Amino acid sequence: MTAVGIDAIEIRTGKLRLDLPNTFAPVKGEDPGKYTKGIGIQYSSLPDVYEDIVTMGANAAKRLMDRKGLTPEDIGRIDVATESAFDNSKPVSTYIAGCLESVYDGDFHHANKGERKFACLAGTQSIDDAYNWIRAGRNRGRAALVIATDTALYERGDPGEATQGAGAVAMLIDEDPDIVALSTEQGYGSADETDFLKPNQQFPSVDGQRSIQVYLARMREALEDYESVAGETHPDDFVYFPFHTPYPGMVRKAALLGYRHITRDTEIEDALADDIGMQPREGDYADREDYEDAIRAYMDELKETRRYQEWYEQAIEPTVDVSGQVGNWYTGSVHVARLSALRAAAERGADLAGEKLLVGSYGSGAQAEIHSETVRDGWREAIDAVDVESQLDARYDLDFEEYELVHDAHNHEKDVDIEEFTQPDGEFVFTGWGRMNERRYEYVE
Ligand code: CAA
Repeated sequence: MTAVGIDAIEIRTGKLRLDLPNTFAPVKGEDPGKYTKGIGIQYSSLPDVYEDIVTMGANAAKRLMDRKGLTPEDIGRIDVATESAFDNSKPVSTYIAGCLESVYDGDFHHANKGERKFACLAGTQSIDDAYNWIRAGRNRGRAALVIATDTALYERGDPGEATQGAGAVAMLIDEDPDIVALSTEQGYGSADETDFLKPNQQFPSVDGQRSIQVYLARMREALEDYESVAGETHPDDFVYFPFHTPYPGMVRKAALLGYRHITRDTEIEDALADDIGMQPREGDYADREDYEDAIRAYMDELKETRRYQEWYEQAIEPTVDVSGQVGNWYTGSVHVARLSALRAAAERGADLAGEKLLVGSYGSGAQAEIHSETVRDGWREAIDAVDVESQLDARYDLDFEEYELVHDAHNHEKDVDIEEFTQPDGEFVFTGWGRMNERRYEYVE
């Protein structure tokens, strides 16, 4: 069976940034350590006034198409994943296709376009749709363009404000891919939850502490479901574990739980037993509460062990590096985590071809999905070509008053007219509204 997976990736970050420990925390009267050590985000990426989910998505897609020498004729499908859509009928993918058609010869009239919604999970679901479309033989030799794009803004004063971000990830899904091949095996953990939602409102209603518990519960379910089809997982089976990263501190919690799960009944549990005992088994406790207390105590000790810390440093830390520089990109976040890990591997000159990643995606509401990916021979060149560093470094540093203005400028309920902070340069920009209240765009040379 020919491999199907991710052949190319490009990201587009919002062109502004807010320094959380140094600019945001002091105004909020918070200790910078909350951001450097707890949440784990140094900078939130934010969109300039002429940027939005369409411009970021189109700019990422254009760079990908230019670099791969693609024309509209090569793309048979454009799927956009977002939880920041501004229209309940017309999909963002049509806007992005329109932008791209303004700069390429040809058009995307032959391409199937859509918009996927399941909170942050939708980017992975769009990849699934593309995978299934190719596997079903309906692609007529064409590739799919998947774009995960979001402005993850929270109401001012909401605890989620500390995790904001804005950016897009464009991915080309194709046969015989250069970066990773996707497993057919998948696991799901899905339940009707009220943890984070946007009932026809721009900014989310969030129960922050509950959202953390729901993330962990659904991920655990998805891992068990994945293991039921793919067999038991072991830490040595995977070089990296890219997980949905609303903020690196969330992944720290998920990693500890995941490690306990995948080391149970292995030689690692036995080896750790000398120092911290065996893992608690439910059958050994009179009630659930005692069992849960015992698990918490075990995990407190587990996270202090050298073995766990070394695993975390190698298999998890590299996945959250970029996220700590950009904040939450919702649908794009897990794809940023994969990219972050592969970049770290390229930097240290690792030979990853044939190695596996265990990828955990999550969307509030809520559903987790876990699958594995096998790194392909062409990964190194494909990852080296992704423009990350220069985009992150070029962002404009906002002071707090400027941040408030930018937040207001992107608030659909406010009418704020402010000057842009950066100059458009070879990119799609938002230019205003048309006669049917549609958003309008142009390419600025
Ligand atoms: N030094 C070191 N660490 C510190 C610190 C300091 N001075 N001050 C605080 N911390 C730590 C805290 O101990 C905490 O870590 P632990 O959870 O490991 O204990 C961390 O920093 C955050 O501090 P708080 O819990 O006090 O922060 P908060 O109450 O202001 O809000 C939040 C945290 C609930 C995650 C909030 O940011 C939020 O609501 N975010 C949006 C929802 C979210 O991202 N949920 C994640 C799961 S849902 C999901 O994944 C979908 C999605 O993308 C939204």
